[in-house]
Amino acid sequence: MEKVVMTLTDQEKQYLIDLANEARRRAYAPYSHYAVGAALRTKNGRVFTGCNVENAAYPTGMCAERVAVFKAVSEGEREFEVLAVATSNGGSPCGGCRQVLAEFGLDTLVLIADGQGHLVKETTVAEQLPGAFTPKDLQGRAFTK
Ligand code: THU
Repeated sequence: MEKVVMTLTDQEKQYLIDLANEARRRAYAPYSHYAVGAALRTKNGRVFTGCNVENAAYPTGMCAERVAVFKAVSEGEREFEVLAVATSNGGSPCGGCRQVLAEFGLDTLVLIADGQGHLVKETTVAEQLPGAFTPKDLQGRAFTK
């Protein structure tokens, strides 16, 4: 099958990065003080944002990227084009978020940006999670031990 390579204009990238930074301002991060924002564009052109939401019971908090993915999926969107993630220092998506993104496609573009809105790194889910375990690994399997 032919691989469709998605091209985004610099303006489109900046728009998503700016949305991610706006979402970052809504982060609830009283424990880590590390605010993260995300903006996910689906193949239908819809955009879902997310921020990290922490909790006094630490492990029950949620990352910005997963909030965006879960919002999209719960609104009926499962095909993603590009995710922008913004942090103060241009940090990378965590392993858990990479795995959740991988579930819906390894080709999703990942734009990593800083708090000033600068693009720090442009990558893909495949590059971020080499050797990903995906739905394919479970295909056609009956219950076996
Ligand atoms: N965090 C995210 O929102 N996304 C990531 O990919 C990295 C970590 C959040 C989780 C927690 O609220 C804070 O950043 C510090 O780990």
